[in-house]
Amino acid sequence: MADATATHDGTRTYWETRHAEHDELTSGGHIGLDRPGNELFYAQRLGTLLSLVGDLSSPAAPLFVLDAGCGKGYFARALARCGHRVDAFDASRTAVDHARAEGGGPRYAVAALDEWRAPWPYDIVVCVDVLFHVLDDEEWAAGLRNLASLVRVAGRLIVTDEDTAHRTPRGAYIVHRPLTAYRAELEPLGLRHTLSEPYGFRENRVGFHVFTRTR
Ligand SMILES: C[S@@+](CC[C@H](N)C(=O)[O-])C[C@H]1O[C@@H](n2cnc3c(N)ncnc32)[C@H](O)[C@@H]1O
Repeated sequence: MADATATHDGTRTYWETRHAEHDELTSGGHIGLDRPGNELFYAQRLGTLLSLVGDLSSPAAPLFVLDAGCGKGYFARALARCGHRVDAFDASRTAVDHARAEGGGPRYAVAALDEWRAPWPYDIVVCVDVLFHVLDDEEWAAGLRNLASLVRVAGRLIVTDEDTAHRTPRGAYIVHRPLTAYRAELEPLGLRHTLSEPYGFRENRVGFHVFTRTR
């Protein structure tokens, strides 16, 4: 327990510092890329994400979307511009302050994946490049289960990870987990894996996993 808490606190400090020190793309994008590289990285993933979310929104009935671990709000703002009604949260107050200052429609909160509660279910919950930054397995599973509980029946949960054969730590702040680990948590809750879509960006091996709630 003490180790998990230390990991948790170290991760939070890492993200507060990273969000304070880097621009809006580098802080939540790929820290090893320059500005044009991160512009491409974000734009390409946004295109894929929008096609996965789909074209079912209308002014009379916008899709209700949650961006969990929104960072400085790049995806949340883009989803709002496309007509979706967006709630967004991140554990980093620095990131959320920045996102709020940008405006653009989403409603923001400071919260962790395993903490966020909402009085309504979402049509779509997206969680982009967050879960593989949760190092502690119990916190990861609790966060994933909480996100699943926020998806309406027939709605979708869209998460990202690299589909490694086994649990694979990379450096100090990344643990990749196989698709089988996601399925093991989500299927008992009624979420069926319906699609995976690799980023296909340079050598990056992360991709989107889509789960659809069946009950
Ligand atoms: C790589 S960034 C991605 C941010 C955003 N999704 C994007 O793609 O621009 C990872 C984000 O996860 C947030 N984060 C890390 N652990 C979290 C947790 N347990 N709950 C909520 N957010 C968390 C960090 O503060 C950071 O903003």
